[in-house]
Order: sequence, then structure tokens, then C-alpha cells
Amino acid sequence: MFLTTGNCPIYFEKNGFDYLRNFLKELAADRQLFLVTDENCKKHCWPLLEQVFDKNQKPLLVTLPAGERYKTLESATLIWDSLMTAQAKRNSLIINLGGGVITDMGGFAASVFKRGIPFIHIPTSLLGMVDASIGGKTGIDFKAHKNMIGTFSYPEAVFIWDGFLETLEQGHRKSGMAEAYKHALIDNSGYWDFLKKGDLSFERIIFKSLEIKKKLADKDPKEKGERKKLNFGHTVAHSLEAYFLDKEEEIFHGNAVAAGIIVESFLSWKSGFLSLECLEEITGVIFRRFDPILFPTKDVEYLLSYMKQDKKNDKSGLNFTLLDCVGGAIINQRLDTSLVGEGLTYYASLV
Ligand SMILES: NC(=O)c1ccc[n+]([C@@H]2O[C@H](COP(=O)([O-])OP(=O)(O)OC[C@H]3O[C@@H](n4cnc5c(N)ncnc54)[C@H](O)[C@@H]3O)[C@@H](O)[C@H]2O)c1
Repeated sequence: MFLTTGNCPIYFEKNGFDYLRNFLKELAADRQLFLVTDENCKKHCWPLLEQVFDKNQKPLLVTLPAGERYKTLESATLIWDSLMTAQAKRNSLIINLGGGVITDMGGFAASVFKRGIPFIHIPTSLLGMVDASIGGKTGIDFKAHKNMIGTFSYPEAVFIWDGFLETLEQGHRKSGMAEAYKHALIDNSGYWDFLKKGDLSFERIIFKSLEIKKKLADKDPKEKGERKKLNFGHTVAHSLEAYFLDKEEEIFHGNAVAAGIIVESFLSWKSGFLSLECLEEITGVIFRRFDPILFPTKDVEYLLSYMKQDKKNDKSGLNFTLLDCVGGAIINQRLDTSLVGEGLTYYASLV
């Protein structure tokens, strides 16, 4: 184990799933097991994991189509159907094997089935390992709006093995880094300097990112205050994802977060918190490293309308987390939609 957050131990597997094997022997021996995954992870990851299970303890596989557009109530219903058909009990265990879509959705399905049955996460994407699998947020999208339905609910444990990354497509590997850059920008300028060099030591990146996420999630489990720092870049990212989901085009979450980091850094500068020098540095680094998101400036109004549905808003309007330096964030900043529109136009002008 290398960390515990919200009483949930996080294990970093180095020697072929020793921790998971022990967990299954000691804590799951008499339980019915279900493994929720998607088509890609069934093909690439399940064969590497299968030998960890005793032959009399094989999980029942629930395989969903891959991708954000399937992070829906319909997919959650397929999970519940499988649980009902196999007569899942309150002490059954759901094993979520996949990227952030599967850990969010499998966690959500488990957290409400029979008022909550236990689950564990085995993240297989970089984004899942540095961020999505920890912190206890679960959810699905609804009417193309991101994570509209969900719960705060911790897994019994998380097992991370970076060997899964070998089969992750380059585009997803690249996009997964966005949450790591976000962690650095909101909390740790030394980490930003390290990431800037472009060194892709995944083990180090996973450790550092999880340390930052754990710190903020533990201080504020239900996101009433400081945890909101983790939302930096996400108000814009979620509106971009919703805009493209509605058009039935998919963009990668990490690339949307990268665009969000640039727009929200611009807003931080415009609001007088961040220096121009920092804005230029952040824009230069992030824009070079992530695939751009293309949208016509005439659609800025649409993007703003998605933003108005954001979970973080309150009566006073759009609520942002902004930066006041590299390594420091400030929460609960209410901004005018016209200023936010300017930020989106700034981003579109770079592309
Ligand atoms: N709960 C949280 O705190 C939190 C935090 C950040 C992001 N998220 C959510 O995470 C999701 C994005 O996660 P993601 O980027 O992992 O997307 P994803 O789950 O869609 O995975 C990306 C793609 O890679 C494939 N894949 C995953 N692992 C693989 C492997 N080892 N080999 C081959 N293919 C593999 C998947 O099938 C998918 O096609 C979003 O829905 C986002 O909202 C949640």
C-alpha cells in the first residue's frame, strides 16, 4: 500500500498483482464477484489479470462498449440487469477494470444497487491511475451533461499497475497527462517544473499526482471547500465535452481538460490573479503537449449555455477555480459569462 484516502487503501502493484491476490484470498473468498469492464479492456487487460483469480472464484464479466458516450444510464442499467440476473447479494463485490469511464460508472452502479454494494477499482488508463480511480467520486453523464448523476462513494481498495499502459493508445496516454498538469498547477510548482521537462516516468507521476489528490480529497471529502481546487480547468472542459457529446462526436477528457486549463488560466490573468508571464508559460506548455479542441467561435454561446448547467454553479452564477500562481489555486470565483466567452475566444484563436 502506498496511500490511504477516505479509508480506502491504494496499492501500487509491482510484482504481478500480489496485493490483489491477497485481497481476493483474505477479503473476497466467499463473495460473488462481478467484473465490470469495456470491450478494449476486456481484450487487452483482462487476459493479464485473469490468472490472479482461482478457478472457483472467477468473476462474472459485464462488458460494456468503450467510450464516454456510453457513460450513461443505459449502460448502468445493463450493469444492474446483470447483477439482478445473477442474484448479486449485498456482500457481492464489483471489480471495475478500465479507464475513468468504467471506474466512474461501475462505482456509481455499485454505490446505489441495493443501497450500495462494495466495489474495488483497477484503473487501466493513465488518467484513471493519476486521478479518476481515487477520491470517491462516481457518476454517469445525463442528457450529454457530464457526471450529472452520481455519488460520493469510496471503493474498498484501488490496485494500480502501470504495466496496463503498454496497450493504451498513444492518444489516450497523452491525454491522461492533463490531470497531472492540473495537479501541479493548483498545488506544486516543483511538480510543474518536473512535468515541463517532458520526462514520462509514469510511476513517479502517478505517486505525485495521487499524493496531491489525496491531500485535497481527505481535507474536504464532499467538496465543500478546498477540494474545489481540483476542479480547475473542468468548468470549461465539461462544457466542451457536453458540446461534442451532443454532436455525437467524442473528444478525450484529458484534451478537454488541457483546453480548460488554458482558458481558465486566461481568466485567472484577466481577473488580476495570475501574471501574464505565467499565463504565457502555461499556454505554451499545455498547447504544445495536447491535441487541440476545434470549435467555431460562433459556438461560444452554446458552450456558455452548457456551462450554466455545471454542478459547481450557485445562484450567483458561473463558479470557477482560478490560479493565482503556478502551484496555487483560489476557489469560488464568480465570473461574468462575457469574460468567460472572451476566454473561449482566446483559446480558439490559438488553434
Ligand atoms: N471520478 C473522478 O474523480 C474523475 C476524475 C477525472 C476524470 N474522471 C472521468 O474519467 C473519464 C475519462 O477517463 P479515461 O480517459 O480513462 O477514459 P476511458 O475510460 O474512456 O478510457 C480511454 C480509452 O482507453 C481504453 N483503455 C483503457 N485502458 C486501456 C488499456 N490499458 N489498454 C487499451 N485500451 C485501454 C478504453 O477502452 C477507452 O477506449 C471521464 O468520464 C471523466 O469524467 C473522473
